[in-house]
This record gives sequence, C-alpha cells and structure tokens, in this order.
Amino acid sequence: MIEKIQALKAEISKLAASTPEEAEQLRIKYLSKKGAVSALFNDFRSVAADQKRQVGVLLNELKTLATEKIASLKESMAAGADDALASIDITRTAVPKPFGTRHPLSLVKNEINSIFSRVGFTVAEGPEIEDDWHVFSSLNFPPDHPARDMQDTFFISREPSDVLLRTHTSSVQTRVMEKTQPPIRIICPGRVFRNEAVSARAHCFFHQVEGLYIDKNVSFADLKQVLLYFAREMFGPDTRIRLRPSYFPFTEPSAEMDISCHICGGKGCALCKGTGWVEILGCGMVDPNVLEACGIDPNEYSGYAFGMGVERIANLKYRVNDLRLFSENDLRFLHQFDAAH
Ligand code: DAH
Repeated sequence: MIEKIQALKAEISKLAASTPEEAEQLRIKYLSKKGAVSALFNDFRSVAADQKRQVGVLLNELKTLATEKIASLKESMAAGADDALASIDITRTAVPKPFGTRHPLSLVKNEINSIFSRVGFTVAEGPEIEDDWHVFSSLNFPPDHPARDMQDTFFISREPSDVLLRTHTSSVQTRVMEKTQPPIRIICPGRVFRNEAVSARAHCFFHQVEGLYIDKNVSFADLKQVLLYFAREMFGPDTRIRLRPSYFPFTEPSAEMDISCHICGGKGCALCKGTGWVEILGCGMVDPNVLEACGIDPNEYSGYAFGMGVERIANLKYRVNDLRLFSENDLRFLHQFDAAH
C-alpha cells in the first residue's frame, strides 16, 4: 500500500496538460469517485491496524498533492487563454469584407418596375414552364400560324397539352386577365426562353418586362403617353419617341417603338447606325380576340400592351456589347456596376 501511494505521488507530480479538456480528464482520472486516489482511500479499510496511522497521513498528502497539481494545471490553462486574448488588438480596423453588388439586369429591371409603379402599375408574375394556351393560343396565335415561327420554342412535351418554356412574358397577361376583371394595370417582369444559337447578339434565355392596361375607354393616345413618360424617365428628359407600324398577333394595331439615340442625341452615330433612332419595344392595342379568350368583354373594355427586353435596355444604358456577359458571372464585368446606382 505504501509503495502504491509513493508511486502515485511520483506519477502525479509529473502530470502535464496542454488544454483545459486534458486537465479535466486528469481530474477525472485521479480525483473523481472512481479515480485512482479515491480507489486507494477505499483500500484503507484493509490496511493493518498498526500501519493505519502512517498510511492515513500519506493518503491525505497524496490527495492534497493531486488536488493542488490539477488546480494549478487548470489555472495555467486559463492564464494562457488570457495571454491569447491580450495579444488580440481589439482596436484594429476590421478586415473589410466585400459586399455583393446588384446584377446589371436586376438594376434595370428594378428601375423599370419603379418607373411604372409611379403611374399605378403593379407587378404580376407567372410560371416559366407554360402551356400552349397561355403562350400562344389565347394570344391569338392560331395553330400552325406562321407568327409562331417568330419565336423559336423549346417544347417540353406534346401530350397531354403542349408544355413549353415561355417565349415571352405576354403569357402573364392571359393568366391575370383570366382571373381578374378590369381595371387591370400590371407589368410582368420575367425570364423567357428561345431556341437560338448563343452569340454576342442572341441567347437561349433572356428577360422581358410586359405591360398591360385594360379599362373602359383606353386609347392609343394613353399608350403613347405612358411610353413617352417611360422613355424620358429611363433615358433622360430630352428623349423623343417614334412609333412604327408593326405586327403582333395579340395587338391591333401594333407598333414598334424607337427612342432618339441617347448617345448622339439623334444626329447619327455607330450605336444607332447613323439613323438617330434605336428600337426598344413592341406595343399595341390589345386585340379584341385576346380579351374575349380571357373572359373580358371587348365591347365594354379596351386596353394597350407593350413588351420590352431587359437586356436590350441594359445594353443601351450601359453599352454592353455582348449578351453573354450577363450570364457568365465574370466578376470583372459585374463589379463595374458597383457604383452604377
Ligand atoms: N411578346 C412580344 C415579343 O416577345 C413583345 C410584345 C410586343 C409584347 C407587343 C406586347 C406587345 O405586349 O403589345 O416579341
């Protein structure tokens, strides 16, 4: 017994720990109820009567040694932690973390939304995976009509009804008109898809913002005025617009809108190819067939619609000359818009 106590004393006086967890492990190993020191105390009962006194003194010394040793290990651990804290300079400026920036297309889309919301338009959204009815048939594209060829379509399945990726946001017009009676005054931003070879000037997906206003007595003059307001808010107060006759199945009459070139002010430059005008959107008066297909009485209501490409507006505003830059996530490109807004 005496030898065991001496051996344990020697062992304990050499203890070392490098983490607070290790020091705690040592406390458990020696001083807990089932620890090595306690085990010796349990053995005390079987010590011969004449040795009890001597062994008792040694045991108490051992316990004091173990308690002090482990307490001092723990203390030095805590002091070490304080030292580590003391070496941190809390007055130092934080390492700057770069903030993300808005994507140029989001900047332009938000600006379009805000311009139209100031004159009473609210935002409506619809699904990107659509059916033939909402993208074509309801919008007065008869089956097999050549107008469908203008929008090269990704079909997902033919049965039971044509499922496809929407080629334009005009499908959201139908979805809103089917559910709501006029007055309707909405803009519909969103992503659209066309089966085009990817190049600097064309992509298989891009973004549009659709506009729709249906009420009693809506006229072409209302359309022209809201588009002039938009063009001036977006491209500056001196901007002029012109409307050229065009064709869309869902509007009659239909027009294409140009703005006076914001780079040369209309004198003619490389951007407007010397014409002084750049095309920005399609528009027209909603065809009565469309109103009827969507459950709105064309004898009571009329309306206008327009649709524009977000990339197109962004290209004009920021003079980006390759559409692919918008989806390549190249930070050298994206960071150029840090201070844009
Ligand atoms: N949906 C047409 C397109 O993708 C754009 C458009 C033109 C929308 C005229 C309209 C509109 O609402 O009236 O080419």
